[in-house]
Amino acid sequence: MKPTVLELRRKKGARLAMLTAYDYPGAKLVAEAGVDLILVGDSLGMVVLGYDSTVAVTMDDMVHHTRAARRGAPQAFLVADLPFLSYGTAEQALANAARLMKDAGADSVKLEGGAEVRPIVETLVRAGVPVLGHVGLTPQTASALGGFKLQGRDEADARRILEGASALEQAGCWGVVLELVPAPLARLITERIGIPTIGIGAGPHCDGQVLVLHDLLGLDGGHRRPKFVKDFLADGGSVAGAVAAYVAAVRDGSFPDAAHSYAA
Ligand code: KIV
Repeated sequence: MKPTVLELRRKKGARLAMLTAYDYPGAKLVAEAGVDLILVGDSLGMVVLGYDSTVAVTMDDMVHHTRAARRGAPQAFLVADLPFLSYGTAEQALANAARLMKDAGADSVKLEGGAEVRPIVETLVRAGVPVLGHVGLTPQTASALGGFKLQGRDEADARRILEGASALEQAGCWGVVLELVPAPLARLITERIGIPTIGIGAGPHCDGQVLVLHDLLGLDGGHRRPKFVKDFLADGGSVAGAVAAYVAAVRDGSFPDAAHSYAA
């Protein structure tokens, strides 16, 4: 059954398994494998539309793909990304969250950034919009962070990410994605904040894990596979088996292991 946002907020330590899906068959596949949460990520710009970053993804793209994913997984808790420059002001964020939730059927939105997006998150939450935060490597602004690389390696940057996650909790997010940070930093953040952390390239100590569906199926479009990605198709034997193997590995704590995490 679909969890409420209040229930999700309390799922510390629950080993939530989340996967992206961008269309009807993808969402049906991951819902049938029993994921806890589906993300219609703006990563669709890279893995489905062939852009080299998520910057070009539009609200129309997100609405189109969220609607299709919703048709594939009518009962799932569906999170949809607010794309780059769609939440610069509170008014814009509210109007675009309305499109994702009312027109496309999302249960929650996700947006990127730490302390700097706190006022936007507060406005959304006050209006009743469930928000999932996203700190560490934030792909929409990856260029300003030096590219798609590990974040939080020095003390100042680690503090910025920790403070960002705390600000998101205080602003009312129900959870926060930690992307591409060393496992010890993700562990510290997970211990310090009271809402679930969902890691991607953030080691085994987060309260949940998320991966891009195409990555776990080895559909990398010729891009170099990052260390944190595991090709579950090799073990799973079939597409459905691969997704089921991912869900099982997140739930039993065997993924991510040290080989798919960053020590520092
Ligand atoms: O867009 C996306 O798929 C994401 C995940 C990498 C967390 O934001």
